[in-house]
Amino acid sequence: MSLTVYRDGKFMSEERAAVSPFDRGLLYGDGLFETLRCYEGKFFRLDAHVERLRRGLETLGITPPAALQEIGPVLRELANLNYVANGVARIVVTRGVGEFGLLGRFAEQPMLLAACWPQPPPPGRRYEAGIQVIIAHHRLSGCAGLKSLNYLPQILARREAEAAGADDAILLNTHGHVAEATSSNVFLVRDRELITPALEAEILPGITRAAVLELARAEKLPVVERVVHQNDLFHADEIFLTNSVAEVTPVTRLGGHWVHLGQPGPITREMMRAYGALVGREAK
Ligand SMILES: Cc1ncc(COP(=O)(O)O)c(C=O)c1O
Repeated sequence: MSLTVYRDGKFMSEERAAVSPFDRGLLYGDGLFETLRCYEGKFFRLDAHVERLRRGLETLGITPPAALQEIGPVLRELANLNYVANGVARIVVTRGVGEFGLLGRFAEQPMLLAACWPQPPPPGRRYEAGIQVIIAHHRLSGCAGLKSLNYLPQILARREAEAAGADDAILLNTHGHVAEATSSNVFLVRDRELITPALEAEILPGITRAAVLELARAEKLPVVERVVHQNDLFHADEIFLTNSVAEVTPVTRLGGHWVHLGQPGPITREMMRAYGALVGREAK
């Protein structure tokens, strides 16, 4: 089925939404995106996603397209037009078309593209049994804190995970510290303390990460954001990943090692439950 998408102020079929072959998002990955989940027609923490997008655009010196102000109604309309109750939405902003070359002078019209499609939640077995991750050979690039249109390190790491028979990969940053998984933030538990790489580790400031930190603090769990070493992962009592689409996913195998004897641990389960309840309160 052809989806209706939104591009630069208009709703149109996906076939009609072709972008210029000279769009800088295509040529150089010169742009940003957001992915968020839609629960029964409502978008979870949309404002936080838009705010992260705006901050990223400021860093890149891209003027936020005017249509970004209307993105809430636009996404709701896309959900209606595409019959989405539960699904995923994507917002893409690129610098648009400019003079050829890296500086892209005169790119005065950023492009905004939004789409929303039905998507069931990930399979239950990922939550019941947990997933297997490896540590990727590829390191994150210096722009990792931005949700940029260039995901090559993450794509290579995910391919490496698949070749190793694993579900996902954790990437190290340029200092060799634990950063994030290919499309998630990483948490670990040690002696009932919840630990996650600090934002200074050049990680994406995940919206789900922030929600989990909020929930953990509300439950008076000790929480630490700090430098995380590979060794911390191997000595963790529990590990889990967070992102908007998959929420809280337990990791039960790291390379050849079982984590928590191959079962999701109690704090991971508690965070899965608490996040589900938060979604229930805010987005349904
Ligand atoms: C590299 C990376 N880190 C972390 C996340 C988690 O971010 P969020 O919780 O905002 O979805 C994502 C989301 O796709 C990601 O791509």
